[in-house]
Amino acid sequence: MKIENAVVLVTGANRGIGLAFARELLARGARKVYAGARDSASVTQAGVQPLRLDVTKPEDVAAAAAQASDVTLVINNAGIAQPGGFLAPDSEAVARRIFETNFFAMLRMSKAFAPILKANGGGALLNVLSAASWVNGGELAAYSASKSAAWSLTNALRGELAAQKTQVLALHMAYVDTDLTRGFDVPKSSAEQIVKRALDGLESGLDEVLADELTLQLKRGMTAARPSYLPQAS
Ligand SMILES: NC(=O)c1ccc[n+]([C@@H]2O[C@H](COP(=O)([O-])OP(=O)(O)OC[C@H]3O[C@@H](n4cnc5c(N)ncnc54)[C@H](OP(=O)(O)O)[C@@H]3O)[C@@H](O)[C@H]2O)c1
Repeated sequence: MKIENAVVLVTGANRGIGLAFARELLARGARKVYAGARDSASVTQAGVQPLRLDVTKPEDVAAAAAQASDVTLVINNAGIAQPGGFLAPDSEAVARRIFETNFFAMLRMSKAFAPILKANGGGALLNVLSAASWVNGGELAAYSASKSAAWSLTNALRGELAAQKTQVLALHMAYVDTDLTRGFDVPKSSAEQIVKRALDGLESGLDEVLADELTLQLKRGMTAARPSYLPQAS
């Protein structure tokens, strides 16, 4: 779909990748950008319409759908991460908390906005996933599992939304330089670069964007003799 004249809702648009999406959408001529945020006062970007939206709260999602009934593109970006493995004492509580935001909220948002996208001609859904959808080394165990679930959700929605002509794009990338990866000593892409690639892909009609070299390498390695999701010899 084309961004020019689109009406877009971005979740978690107050900072990080969500803010980069909001800025790039404005630069590409979106007609309106609803900047969803838990605290709408934290949205400081000029030109957007702040929208109070905690994606884990069903009442917030329902209110957002009622208010933003002109949306033609939904970007499910809001997400949380917490380091730790599945054998940590608190891993079940951590996994439930992360799944609430990264999986169930994405499901709730998609259900709430599917009829709106249909009424507005089909439009598109862009789900922010991760290279961690495919590989789980245990350092961010619950986060990776939540992204795998969200990837599966995205694939199912693509089929379910095809009849109403809604484009569904999965965005995968490795590390991006935001608060989420602060303190991680790894190579990182800029949020601006990732967002440009995602929106280029969306405008070209793609179903999936692998937005950096590491993600492309991981994907290619899925069919290697020793696949990329297994521990690699160091
Ligand atoms: N950074 C990376 O390396 C990387 C790589 C792959 C994928 N991703 C994905 O990219 C997305 C954005 O991440 P980021 O790097 O920009 O992280 P970030 O800088 O930590 O920002 C996260 C955003 O999500 C919002 N958020 C969290 N819980 C929310 C909720 N319940 N309701 C509404 N908004 C909520 C935050 O709002 P508050 O300000 O209120 O906390 C913030 O705006 C996430 O889905 C993440 O998993 C990131």
